[in-house]
Amino acid sequence: MDVSKRTLGLGTENAFVVLAEVNALKREGKDLISFCIGQPDFDTPQNIKDAAKKAIDAGKTGYTDSAGVFEVRAAIAKHLSVTRKIDVKPEHVVIANGAKPFIAYAIACTTDYGVGDEVIYPNPGFPIYESQIIASGAVPVPLPLTEKKKFSFEIDELKNRISNRTKMLIINTPHNPTGGILEEDDLREVAALAKKHDFWVYADEIYCRIAYDKEFKSIASLPGMYERTIISDGASKAYAMTGWRMGYIANQFLAPYVARWVTNTESCANHMAQYAMMEAVSGPQDESKKMVQSFRERRELIVKLLNELDGVKCLMPGGAFYAYPNVTDAVKRLGLKDSEELRKLLLKNGVAVLADIHFGKRNPGETEQYIRLSYATSKDNIIEGLRRMKTVIGSKDTETGTLSF
Ligand SMILES: Cc1ncc(COP(=O)(O)O)c(C=O)c1O
Repeated sequence: MDVSKRTLGLGTENAFVVLAEVNALKREGKDLISFCIGQPDFDTPQNIKDAAKKAIDAGKTGYTDSAGVFEVRAAIAKHLSVTRKIDVKPEHVVIANGAKPFIAYAIACTTDYGVGDEVIYPNPGFPIYESQIIASGAVPVPLPLTEKKKFSFEIDELKNRISNRTKMLIINTPHNPTGGILEEDDLREVAALAKKHDFWVYADEIYCRIAYDKEFKSIASLPGMYERTIISDGASKAYAMTGWRMGYIANQFLAPYVARWVTNTESCANHMAQYAMMEAVSGPQDESKKMVQSFRERRELIVKLLNELDGVKCLMPGGAFYAYPNVTDAVKRLGLKDSEELRKLLLKNGVAVLADIHFGKRNPGETEQYIRLSYATSKDNIIEGLRRMKTVIGSKDTETGTLSF
């Protein structure tokens, strides 16, 4: 019995692989601080849980339209119209079990299998983009993000990658894994290119409520862009609802096609959870704002502590809950091959992080090494985790770290 090449070649999200590793080590009794998974450590706000309970009691337990319950779509349309300053109608919205499935649906809706259709995506980036482009039989075209550009891309690098086969560009701001933000000027240039070369933009805006220094800007808000933008967002990150599996997209033209993919796969999103998401986007926002304030404080703490480590430089991320320090000098000084070896060494010493290679292959000519830490964890964990890292890496004010294998 054979397994298909498509399945054997399927990528993965290493956060889940390392999470399984971390949980196995924890079961063996190993004391670990984990900075691996992009999941808020808060509980879902009470008003959202109550809305779900009410929905269950009101019998919201059957199939729904594949695009989602109309009143929930209407609430999301209103939320998007206000936050993106565009006119989103309920019919433009499709709900699914998380924002993740829409990556595959959007690629399937805009490219054909095996004919050379190209999708450009950020590298490093959320690993499911590349994995799903390949699984859908399209051609992955990685777009390098650079520390020099605060983890945005050079517009010429994008221009060089556009061809007459480009069907879609994926952007993600605020960005996983770097915490980078695409500035409005960059969005304008991207918009001009999308119009000129007539391609779709998949705007992964799952972290849009977690932008610290500036108001979040969506490419869909730029003139003439909503029609060619698939806005993707969801409840997971800003409302501590990762396990509820609630996400949505909006696009006037593609919505019915995306809904047909939902019919073919999930049938519809979880009925009662849709009501929880309706409460999340249209109910009081205080709990979500408190979470973001807490992420902001943790961001400042973790970046300060990372920058005290010898051979580590960390930019202040503008959004999401990830720090992406450059560890090139630390890797060299410790005589390690790369950031992945550093990750393994840190794991042995009680700290779980991810390495840059978990977010895409190195871009040609890239010599810098990075690791990713999710700071969606308590300040106490951040302080203890960074203390452990200091024993391995050393601090800028001491000569070398003490290695404790
Ligand atoms: C960039 C990005 N997009 C999409 C998702 C998917 O989120 P969900 O399926 O939980 O809505 C994630 C989750 O980590 C993410 O980091």
